[in-house]
Amino acid sequence: MILVTGGAGYIASHTCIELLQAGYEVLAIDNLSNASKESLQRVQKITGKKLTFIKGDIRNEQLMAETFQQYNIAAVIHFAGLKAVGESCAMPLEYYDNNINSTLVLTQAMQAANCKKLVFSSSATVYGNPEKLPLTEDMPLSATNPYGRSKLIIEEILRDLPIADAIKQTNPPWSVALLRYFNPVGAHQSGLIGEDPSDTPNNLMPFITQTAIGRREKLAIFGDDYDTVDGTGVRDYIHVVDLALGHVKAVEKLLSAGGIEGVQAYNLGTGTGISVLEMLNAFAKTNKVKVPYEIVPRRAGDIAACYADVSRAKKELNWQATRQLEDMVKDSWHWQSKNPKGYKN
Ligand code: NAD
Ligand code: WQD
Repeated sequence: MILVTGGAGYIASHTCIELLQAGYEVLAIDNLSNASKESLQRVQKITGKKLTFIKGDIRNEQLMAETFQQYNIAAVIHFAGLKAVGESCAMPLEYYDNNINSTLVLTQAMQAANCKKLVFSSSATVYGNPEKLPLTEDMPLSATNPYGRSKLIIEEILRDLPIADAIKQTNPPWSVALLRYFNPVGAHQSGLIGEDPSDTPNNLMPFITQTAIGRREKLAIFGDDYDTVDGTGVRDYIHVVDLALGHVKAVEKLLSAGGIEGVQAYNLGTGTGISVLEMLNAFAKTNKVKVPYEIVPRRAGDIAACYADVSRAKKELNWQATRQLEDMVKDSWHWQSKNPKGYKN
């Protein structure tokens, strides 16, 4: 069985589908602080398979200990966390508590149960303001906000675990995949599950789809004076189903005979940079909808461009993204137009 923390969330719910379809049993835990249980109902509807759900907070030590006693968990995918950059600047302690303490409680429970195979949701944010592109996994790391710092600190904590194994000669040793996601967008092609931000969105795609559906008057484009193809910010957008499949590959690798030695970081992106205007034009053209926009000043803390070198994931996980920009904009719109109020329909 695979334990999926934050299992009802955007990326996790898509990953649950791919895990179930690959034949894994899934146990999802979520405190539903930023998700609806409905997403997992729909996962079961899409796959025709059952998963086990526990509503709970993974900072709860007793709950985590009992969970590892009750279920035979082969590996954990740890998605649970808070993820809004702006909010993290206003509430750093909540972010450190939720993201770092949850990881400590989880890994302690894992260690006590001798389950030491972990996939962690990291982020391209750990590269800070990149000096060189594309980004390879061994480039310098830094953080520009508490959210990013929480990811960086967790990566460092996890790196200490196999070192301790070596000192104590414990077996089995920790085996950890740090998956650094670039910019996840899109939705399952059924249109049944997708991104459903409870408050104001943080990311570009939900702003685009909410504008297209009429929930917002226009999209604000944060700056058109960057040193990029058309002056707008460039990012490496990745379809969430490709991202989900990357998790299945990471789990397969962790459970394989060779496994993953110690802690290994993997960029999960497409390797291609897309500007805000390119994204907007692709969305309007593919979906034949108008998205009014205006150019506003740059957003504080934004970088001009960011995209991945994805060769390590290809070589070591046998994974690469296959979905194109058209799939990303089509599937994002399919989800939003079918579910104008998200899961509250
Ligand atoms: P999400 O908010 O949809 O999913 C996170 C889930 O974790 C939510 O369902 C939430 O209810 C749950 N959760 C939060 N704290 C919890 C706790 N203490 N106990 C139990 N459940 C808890 O976000 P997402 O976009 O699917 O992101 C998943 C992970 O990927 C996060 O760790 C995020 O930081 C990381 N990530 C996201 C992006 C992105 O742009 N979406 C990019 C890079 C990394
Ligand atoms: C993308 C581009 C904006 C909204 C953030 C986090 C990062 C990671 C992914 C979790 C930029 C522009 C956006 C809008 C706009 N999350 N934009 N108008 O900033 O690359 O990364 O999400 O780990 O940590 O920082 O993503 O989607 O916010 O922005 O013009 O209304 O779209 O300026 O160029 P970002 P984003």
